[in-house]
Amino acid sequence: MAKLRVLVTRRWPAEIERQLAEQFDVTLNESDEPMTEAALAVAMAEYDVLCPTVSDKIDAAVISGGDRVKLIANYGVGFDHIDLAAAKARGIAVTNTPGVLTDATADIAMTLLLMAARRAGEGERELRAGQWSGWRPTHLIGSALKGKVLGCVGFGRIAIATARRAHHGFGMKIAYYGRRECDPAVADELDAEFCPELSDLLGKADFVSLHVPGGAETANMIDADAIAAMKPGSYLINTARGGVVDHEALADALKSGHLAGAGLDVYPAEPAVPECLLGLENAVLLPHLGSANAETRVAMGMCALANVEAFAKGAELPNPVG
Ligand code: DGY
Repeated sequence: MAKLRVLVTRRWPAEIERQLAEQFDVTLNESDEPMTEAALAVAMAEYDVLCPTVSDKIDAAVISGGDRVKLIANYGVGFDHIDLAAAKARGIAVTNTPGVLTDATADIAMTLLLMAARRAGEGERELRAGQWSGWRPTHLIGSALKGKVLGCVGFGRIAIATARRAHHGFGMKIAYYGRRECDPAVADELDAEFCPELSDLLGKADFVSLHVPGGAETANMIDADAIAAMKPGSYLINTARGGVVDHEALADALKSGHLAGAGLDVYPAEPAVPECLLGLENAVLLPHLGSANAETRVAMGMCALANVEAFAKGAELPNPVG
């Protein structure tokens, strides 16, 4: 029987690329250059399985490029870059890689929170520029974490892992906004307060951390009104998706001092970073590093591979979405 034709759109950990190549007729992207939408559309007619990442926009136009692809096995947990309705309409299954990047992403949320609270980016820039004049009691004063409220917007796996770090590791209080109350065991463990209204959470949190999926439902959820509802002197942390935040409104609040700082790992049109943020000392800006540690990237690859293997066998897909 002919092997399945599989297209991997970006470089994956070598070990996973090797395992894929042993089992399937695989095309790897040696250059690691992002593919154009036109090339992705052509691929829909030439491959059985497409393995994209967040950097590939798999919209309805791409999906209508051909009828051969029957599985889109995404490397990553978020799937707002894939038009699920268009895929479904063509009988294409979509899978993701949940669970395996929870800890790595929670670590980056805490990295951003600490960097913003303790002005680490600002300090590093000052030092490298030769501008550090030495220790003094009033130099680059930030915020303590102990006793402060971490408000999580969305309370799924990554939010809970972040809250655990913040509560058990740094003595922070936890509040959250979500569609429903969390598992009572988690609420007890974290002494977490449920806020059924987003504005209540925003008004009481010293640090707001975003953990909702991207897409139309959450687009601009943190807009000018939401930012105005945030506590004066508070911080915004985003490891979710860039489209959730109105960055012009955020930049205004960072400039006026209404917000003390922000830590961002994601942007609406990556790799572009909103111009309005680039000159702001109190914005910590990372290049979408949430899942970027070696162990996690291998685990994500293993998870995507398991979905392709199940598809090849006609077995139930481990991680279907949509
Ligand atoms: C994810 O897995 O969704 C990360 O943001 C990378 O895509």
